[in-house]
Parts: sequence; structure tokens; C-alpha cells
Amino acid sequence: MKMKSRSYVSHQECSKCRKSYDPDQINQLCSCGAPLLVRYHLKELAGAVTKGDLASRPPSLWRYKELLPVKGEESIVTLGEGMTPLIPLATIGGRLGLRELFMKDEGTIPTGTFKARGAAVGVSKAKELGVKALAMPTNGNAGGAWALYCARAGIECFIVMPEDAPAIPRNECALSGAKLYLVRGLISDAGKIIGRAVKKYGWYDASTLKEPYRIEGKKTMGFEIAEQMNWQIPDVILYPTGGGVGIIGIYKGLRELQELGWIGEKMPRLVAVQAAGCAPIVKAWEEKKAQSEFWQNSTTIAFGINVPKALGDFLVLEAVYRTNGCAVTVEDDEILRAQSSLASEEGVYVCPEGAATLPAAVRLLKDGWIRADESVVLLNTGTGLKYPEAVNINVRSLNRDEDLPVSC
Ligand SMILES: Cc1ncc(COP(=O)(O)O)c(C=O)c1O
Ligand SMILES: [Zn+2]
Repeated sequence: MKMKSRSYVSHQECSKCRKSYDPDQINQLCSCGAPLLVRYHLKELAGAVTKGDLASRPPSLWRYKELLPVKGEESIVTLGEGMTPLIPLATIGGRLGLRELFMKDEGTIPTGTFKARGAAVGVSKAKELGVKALAMPTNGNAGGAWALYCARAGIECFIVMPEDAPAIPRNECALSGAKLYLVRGLISDAGKIIGRAVKKYGWYDASTLKEPYRIEGKKTMGFEIAEQMNWQIPDVILYPTGGGVGIIGIYKGLRELQELGWIGEKMPRLVAVQAAGCAPIVKAWEEKKAQSEFWQNSTTIAFGINVPKALGDFLVLEAVYRTNGCAVTVEDDEILRAQSSLASEEGVYVCPEGAATLPAAVRLLKDGWIRADESVVLLNTGTGLKYPEAVNINVRSLNRDEDLPVSC
């Protein structure tokens, strides 16, 4: 891929105390313990690049290169990630009485989930910074994506995931040569093991928000939605929220586009969707709090959003409050029904996390929080193909000489 442009990174800024950090150094959390966010020379960039310049670029997230932290073309580790389709859901929209219902479908991206975005940018930047080994806890999909991108980059990768995490990401980690361990516990327990190992061995800590670049990959979902809607922002985006990097990223990305003048004042109302069995962000939002509390005994079939306490909870809540959004829970059986109706009515086979956004939209429409004339985007974070264990079907087997028992 050849592109004349360059990154416009200026510095890293603490999301809490605003302390500034050198972007050419390896930085993890701020000394105050909060995540760092990458900042750009947006004024300079606004004068140098127009949104029209993007049109002729390759359909991957690297089309937004100036707004990404990787400086050298040679550092880019890519599998062609990004520019996933924005699919109109005309049948379900029509049934619900919603005129403009879309799905941003991350099911078609390398590794099958949006985690590829964070991994592509995170691993590329790690390579640029000279990282030789990194470590992370995961609920599965992030581990699978980072393991594969690390394999491509030649970076050693240590991963700990819950024992009952889905099997496919586990296979991705194992086949890509990552050093994979399972923990009898949750992602929070995996995080503690990684934390101790990172301290002991000096590895780069690629845990959610403990390095500042994963979010930069994920914000490109916001860029793409804006570009695909011809820079008209939808009224509502519903996002299945676990660690929250996606929703924080979309908010950050859209704020950057606003500062560039590429979109107007309007922001979509961001909705954090969580499972009823693990809803710390929803509880905090209902109580109008700025932070969440650890959710005890969390459980849901939507494994990627089984995060009892997110490091960036305050940033998720900030994104929701500042966009006049909200936070809602859905039950596991609603998720499974939505997965089935998205397949049968729209032909999209989504992951349980992505499916969760549909019953959330239905509830908000019934409550009048979403109006029938508003444009609504469901963010499907991955393909249903990664979750064979979530679907239970009963199919009849025929004897070889048996005729089909149905007529058409
Ligand atoms: C398929 C899927 N959707 C959503 C999420 C939640 O991601 P986020 O950290 O952006 O909240 C995950 C995280 O593991 C996931 O794998
Ligand atoms: Zn700080």
C-alpha cells in the first residue's frame, strides 16, 4: 500500500489528569493510573487533507492514516481490515416501523470480529516502538486477533483467557503460536495474572486501555459510519459494551471529525448495550454515576460483554452522557431470538454481542426514546460463525433412500 500522507500524532494525554506523554516512547497507563489517549495536530491536518482525498484510497482502515498513530508505512501490519459494510435492515426496520435501520457489520473483517481493528493498529504501533513481546488477558476475540497480528508482525504474544471462553478464538491463539493459558475464572482474573507477569518479565501490557493504540483502531468504526453515510451522522448508534473500547473509540473518532470540520455539530446518541447478567455500566448510568462498580457473579452467553468492571468505565459513561445517550440491558433469550431473526429476516449471521443491540433498539423504540423517523445503526461486532456453541438446533436426519417429508 502506498500513501503519501503521514500521521499527525502530537502527543498522548491522560484521560483523567491531562498529563502529557511523548508518543515515541512506550507508555502504558498514566502515573495516576488512568488510560492515555492519543492526540493529533488536527488544525494542521484540516489544512492538509480533505475528506474528498479519502475517496481514492484503499478500502481499509488505513485510509485514515493521518488520524492513526503509526508513523512509518513499513510498520503497518495489515490483513486488509476495515471498510466493513453498512447494511440497511429494511425488513426488520419495516416490521418495527423504523424507516432507517442499519447494521455496521464487523462480521466480514479478518479474524471475524472488530477486534481486528484494535489489533492491526495496536500491533503495528507496538512493532514501530520495537516491542518484542506483549501480553494480554482476553474474553477470546481480542486474544485471537492480537495473536494472529502478532504472528504476522513477529512479536511474541502471551495470552490468558477464561477456561469457558468460546473455542474458536482459543484455536486462533494456539495455531498462531501465542503462549496461551486458560484461567478458572473471569477476564478480571486473567487480568490479574497478566498484571503480575508483566511486572515480572517487563513485557508490553496490551490489556484493554493499558496501551493507548487499540482504541485508535476501533475509532475507525466511527470514521467509516460517517463516511458511509456521506458525512451525515445517524441519530443513534447502539453498541454492545464490555470493556467499552469500541464505544469510547467511536465517540473519540467522531469528536476528531468534528474538530476537523468534516462533520457538523450533531453527535449520534450513543447507547451502551449490556447483558442483564453483567450490566455495571447500565447500573452506573441509571444511578447517574461517573464510574461503575464491580458486577458480582456476572454471566451471559454474549461472552465478549462479560466484563464485570472496565478500566475505562468512566470514559464509556462520559461518551453516553455527553451524547445524550443511554444504557440498556437485554436478556440472553432476547439475544438468541434476535440472532435468529437477523439471520432469517436479513440474512446476516451475527455474534450474540451484536445481536444484543436489536432488542435494545426495540425497547427504546417502544419507550419512545427512539423515534420512528430517526436513523439508527446497530453495531454488530462480529460474525456468528465464531460462536457455534451459542446455537442449539434440531435437524432431522434422513435415511439414504428416504424422500423429503415436505412438499413445496
Ligand atoms: C464480539 C464482541 N463484541 C463486543 C465486545 C466488547 O468490546 P468493547 O471492549 O468494545 O466493549 C467484545 C469484547 O471481547 C467482543 O468480542
Ligand atoms: Zn493521569
